[in-house]
Amino acid sequence: MELINLRSDTQTLPTQAMLDAIASAPLGDDTYDEDPTVHRLERLAADMLGKEAALLVISGNMANLACLMAHAAPGDEVIIDPESHIFYYEVGGLANVAGLMPMPVQSRGGRLDPDDVAAAVRPRNLHYPVPRLLCLENTHNRSGGRVTPLELHRELCRTAHSKGLAVHLDGARIFNAAIAAGVRASAYAEDVDSLMFCLSKGLSCPLGSMIVGSKEFILKADAARKRLGGGMRQAGIIAAAGIVALESMVDRLADDHATAQRLARGLNEIPGLSVEMETVETNMVYVEHTGTGLSTSALLDKLKAAGVLASGRPPGHFRFVTSRHQDAAVIDEALDRVRKAVEA
Ligand SMILES: Cc1ncc(COP(=O)(O)O)c(C=O)c1O
Repeated sequence: MELINLRSDTQTLPTQAMLDAIASAPLGDDTYDEDPTVHRLERLAADMLGKEAALLVISGNMANLACLMAHAAPGDEVIIDPESHIFYYEVGGLANVAGLMPMPVQSRGGRLDPDDVAAAVRPRNLHYPVPRLLCLENTHNRSGGRVTPLELHRELCRTAHSKGLAVHLDGARIFNAAIAAGVRASAYAEDVDSLMFCLSKGLSCPLGSMIVGSKEFILKADAARKRLGGGMRQAGIIAAAGIVALESMVDRLADDHATAQRLARGLNEIPGLSVEMETVETNMVYVEHTGTGLSTSALLDKLKAAGVLASGRPPGHFRFVTSRHQDAAVIDEALDRVRKAVEA
């Protein structure tokens, strides 16, 4: 029985077109700024997001960290949602590598409230660190891939800028957000000072993330990337797959949203499981399983034995993420296996 892997869109494999592009990409030394394929990808990414310049980075985590370091100096304060990926899942790099002071502001359903952000920016005073940056995340991973609507996003940026803060957007899945909101990704990029997005995840590259911003900002992020050990040589082998992703894999993310809806509807018909449909906005489905009477780890083991992989979100929840590897037929098969596992 082939496993149906719904743990994460980070588990997607490169397409044949990507592998072909990698094999034939013209290469050079990127640290000498001489890799033509990297140049092509960086120009394409900057143009798609409507920014002056772009930088290829090895991972989303490093891209976020390079942006934090480029925006702020050790001791400065960053307004950030404690449920954000940067705060929750990036090994405290914000503090122990960038040396920044987090000022946590809780989001609701992945959305920050501009009034909460404004209230968190304290007036200058000898006792306080200098507030420099607001971090946003869209789609928002820990809230289940939820989308911040464009109007709210713009208001958050206006609020931060009016207080003298820069804005960084962790847009690991910005194209999912844009598709769900029915806008171009560049609309989300317009008001932020830096944005990072991932070529891996739903776009299916084996690795790579992009930072976009002004030319001046990208020079700073490039220096931070180098300081982090992220300078690369023949990085065109990564960029080649990235070009295929940006040219041919963006629009199809809508299919992942449709399969997530199908999965969520089916799960709601299985006794003991429930999904709040209004939270399923992109390719993630958070499932409440308390009705099964099982612990999250016991339930994940049962699902695995039945041939379906999920990620735990205890207490009482697990997560499915859809990707190009699951069409409607695979989703129906997954639902069948989940039903049998839960009923057993
Ligand atoms: C919202 C968000 N930001 C950043 C990252 C980090 O990306 P990477 O795992 O490539 O370092 C992830 C990874 O899942 C993510 O979900």
